[in-house]
Amino acid sequence: MATPQWAAVDAYLVQALIGDDPALTAALEASTEAGLPAIGVSPAQGKLLHLLARIQGARKILEIGTLGGYSTIWLARALPRLGRLVSLEVDPRHAEVARENVARAGLTRAVDIRVGPALELLPQLAGEQQGPFDFIFIDADKPSTPEYFEAAIGLSRPGTVIVVDNVVRDGSIVDAGSADPNVIGMRRLVERLSADPRVDATVLQTVGSKGYDGFAIARVASDI
Ligand code: SAH
Ligand code: DHB
Ligand code: MG
Repeated sequence: MATPQWAAVDAYLVQALIGDDPALTAALEASTEAGLPAIGVSPAQGKLLHLLARIQGARKILEIGTLGGYSTIWLARALPRLGRLVSLEVDPRHAEVARENVARAGLTRAVDIRVGPALELLPQLAGEQQGPFDFIFIDADKPSTPEYFEAAIGLSRPGTVIVVDNVVRDGSIVDAGSADPNVIGMRRLVERLSADPRVDATVLQTVGSKGYDGFAIARVASDI
């Protein structure tokens, strides 16, 4: 099949606006080498996350779903000196590859990768008073996304920005009768976003080298 136009446009824009990035390229190569699936955010999406975190002035970032640390590197690079990123990953092999990639990017001191199921690690972060986080990126298993979002609000302050990946998934989000747990998870997320007075949110559909998908972007209200 011919390259879809949006993949060609992504390639053009990434070359123009991001260019060669040895640490990110090395991270992708090491991830492929280790047999990790190529399901991380695209370069343009990674840069969007980076810019959003910088626009937010984030000093503390939480990520749920590390994989090989590709989005982790983009986000950690947005931190000021002494800023910190905590990333949660259930698969010890993914975490090991991510730690190596983060080290290669020179970000070890800023990044704390924790291994375990996010639903167990999130309450631990709360117990350790690691929050509030300024920016939270949710990108782990999709069925639990609404639970991660709830925990994220608990680790937030007024004004915290929460971004959720893979909300649209080729348009499957509109299928109200879907039996796919991923779709059900994302529809539950959208219901929550629409009904929860603690957040203001939108969902932005995206196309590019990773196909057709979308990010939810939420801001925690000033009066939580
Ligand atoms: N954010 C990454 C991609 C993450 S892919 C990037 O864009 O580069 C999703 C990751 O979530 C996988 O590594 C998977 O192992 C992890 N994951 C799946 N279920 C999880 C759970 N219950 N707790 C924590 N991480 C989980
Ligand atoms: C999958 C997970 C992701 O976070 C993603 O961006 C794409 C695909 C997956 O589990 O298939
Ligand atoms: Mg994702």
